[in-house]
Amino acid sequence: MADIVLKNIYKRFDDFTAVKDLNLEIRDKEFLVLLGPSGCGKTTTLRMISGLELPSEGKILLDNEDVTFKRASRRDIAFVFQLFALYPHLTVYNNIAFPLKTQGVEKSKIDQEVKKIAKLLQIDHILNKKPKQLAGGDLQRVALGRGLVRKPKAMLLDEPIGTLDAKFREEMRTELKGLHIDSGSTTVYVTHDQVEAMDMGDRIAVMNHSVLQQVGEPHEVYSNPKNLFVAKFIGSPGMNFLETEAENSGGKLSLKYKGDGTKIELPDFLADKLNNHKELTGVTWGIRPEDVSIVSEGTANSVRGNVFIVENMGNHKIIDVKLQDGTMVRVRELPKTELNIGDNVSITFDMKMVRLFNTESGDSIMFQE
Ligand SMILES: Nc1ncnc2c1ncn2[C@@H]1O[C@H](COP(=O)(O)OP(=O)(O)OP(=O)(O)O)[C@@H](O)[C@H]1O
Ligand SMILES: [Mg+2]
Repeated sequence: MADIVLKNIYKRFDDFTAVKDLNLEIRDKEFLVLLGPSGCGKTTTLRMISGLELPSEGKILLDNEDVTFKRASRRDIAFVFQLFALYPHLTVYNNIAFPLKTQGVEKSKIDQEVKKIAKLLQIDHILNKKPKQLAGGDLQRVALGRGLVRKPKAMLLDEPIGTLDAKFREEMRTELKGLHIDSGSTTVYVTHDQVEAMDMGDRIAVMNHSVLQQVGEPHEVYSNPKNLFVAKFIGSPGMNFLETEAENSGGKLSLKYKGDGTKIELPDFLADKLNNHKELTGVTWGIRPEDVSIVSEGTANSVRGNVFIVENMGNHKIIDVKLQDGTMVRVRELPKTELNIGDNVSITFDMKMVRLFNTESGDSIMFQE
């Protein structure tokens, strides 16, 4: 199997840089999700790993071998695209057999491998059909079958289930994970859906504007985001943000919420972090919905607001609290919480879970590798 190393990779199209100084190590047998918004450079990165696109600068190693300028067909990497690229005139069987035929594999061996992979993907009953007779989920399974049949060192999947409906997507997510575990192929999976990324990835690499922002296990990117972009992109409902500024009275640091001037006293560990960043003018206070509590008005260290919306999600409620300056804070509460629209409330924060960001640069001042 394979590990894939990308070293200082750049990809330029004329004067536009689609991938900028990318350094990433994808571990042997790992399921790595490349996550980011449209246009951030995910497909371009995948195409470079596969060899369909050459980097403008940098190196790509596959199993310690420099493959930067090696042709796609010689890399032993399978690539499944978002749009199923099946041959319409061939049966499912022949579509899956195709990569083995081009490699000159013996007929009986091809038959054995096609049947094995078809069984694994539960498409052994449709081997004689043509693509146009199949529904989306089966088409995608066939495309996967064609990718997997030659037991590639690595699998690259570009939004492979993006076009399927919600229920199918969920099924396919589970199937793909199972398949990855069974086949042991190092897998790079592209999506712009953070829920999919959190669900599937051993690790997630978050990209934005051609730049890799952070790589980590799902819980790491969720609870320890490196910057505001990652904090905003991961999680649903997303992290809440309050704009504050540091105040120093008598040597003791606190943060003033700019919206209404409320002073938030800081525990020592947060004050220490701030003390290391005396240059800061604005501090963005980040806190996830599950780490905010609704308390009665006047509670120490709380910020006032009123209930704007109550969403009943079954096993919990999401309460949108509108602060005095109009900032909305989403709070996750137990289903039994009784609150009505318009109620005056205050919110407090689990200080251990507060994340502070440099408002200007967007960088977390609490991030540790
Ligand atoms: N062959 C090309 N020539 C010029 N620009 C390109 C080319 N391929 C990609 N780009 C540009 O590079 C940027 C990144 O494209 P890419 O397809 O990698 O994004 P993506 O993250 O896969 O987005 P999406 O989620 O929409 O698929 C885009 O702005 C795109 O227009
Ligand atoms: Mg893409």
